[in-house]
Amino acid sequence: MLSEVTATRYVTPLREGGSLPGIVEADDLGTYVMKFTGAGQGRKTLVAEVICGELARGLGLRVPELVTIELDPVIGLGEPDQEVQELLKASGGLNLGMDYLPGSIGFDPLAYEVDPAEAGRVVWFDALINNVDRSWRNPNLLVWHGDLWLIDHGATMIWQHNWPTAASAAAKPYNASDHVLAPFGPDIAAAAADLAPLVTEELLTEVAAQVPAEWLVDEPGFESADALRRAYVEALLPRAATIHERITLGAPTRDRPSQAPGWLADRLTPQPRTTGRTAQAPADAAQVDRRPQHDEDGGK
Ligand SMILES: Nc1ncnc2c1ncn2[C@@H]1O[C@H](COP(=O)(O)OP(=O)(O)OP(=O)(O)O)[C@@H](O)[C@H]1O
Ligand SMILES: [Mg+2]
Repeated sequence: MLSEVTATRYVTPLREGGSLPGIVEADDLGTYVMKFTGAGQGRKTLVAEVICGELARGLGLRVPELVTIELDPVIGLGEPDQEVQELLKASGGLNLGMDYLPGSIGFDPLAYEVDPAEAGRVVWFDALINNVDRSWRNPNLLVWHGDLWLIDHGATMIWQHNWPTAASAAAKPYNASDHVLAPFGPDIAAAAADLAPLVTEELLTEVAAQVPAEWLVDEPGFESADALRRAYVEALLPRAATIHERITLGAPTRDRPSQAPGWLADRLTPQPRTTGRTAQAPADAAQVDRRPQHDEDGGK
């Protein structure tokens, strides 16, 4: 089970997150990024955070610790921001927390080099969970103490939003052309060989068991939380075996636009890249420039 803590103080909203996550302190003296059950995205995004976050951890990828956070909305009464107050009021009970990584910075593909083996593992994992939210526009990767950490798995497993069609949706390919690590020559074959055998029924069942039952009950077509947990296992298990054959990387591009604010991007010196990416590129790939208009303020 995930550790259970109780929120003691709402510190500040993280405005860069679409779901308005907040930094909270808890009774274990920890500081967490909290995602709220009352957010517009709904509790399924929290289910996805737990299943995909714990699955990633089980595969040896770095994900900050996840906990459940009990929230008494009374801690929001003093919040000056109406939107935050509404969110806290709508989120009494169990919410999700992710250990806050102090001093971490958002991954910038121009500033950091990722080796093809690690890039392959992340892309393969994102293909497995059908993550549409690790693009160069919104990498959802943090760099902390020089290592890459995975965050934000809410926009994954699209099939969970329509269970009657889940089996066919889970069989679909994965287009990784816009993946933030696509330019790093991800070694998908090696990742699949290492990771697919680890995605066992046992691991998936353990991971699904970590989702609090109260986020799973009342799903139409499922008589219990365990029945719904089983559906997640059944969608992911067959996908793990073959998804590497159905990942599209598109034409590699030399550079991706920096997502850093303009003032910082100007100071970043791209690292020379020695991966096989350029060597493998088709002759005209280096000409492909898919960069959007440079955004002076670096906003998303
Ligand atoms: N564990 C963490 N430690 C430090 N900072 C974090 C952590 N988790 C998230 N953040 C910061 O908060 C931002 C928002 O978090 P996250 O992406 O999980 O929220 P979201 O609402 O799902 O965002 P979106 O859907 O807009 O990408 C991240 O981009 C990052 O800057
Ligand atoms: Mg995000």
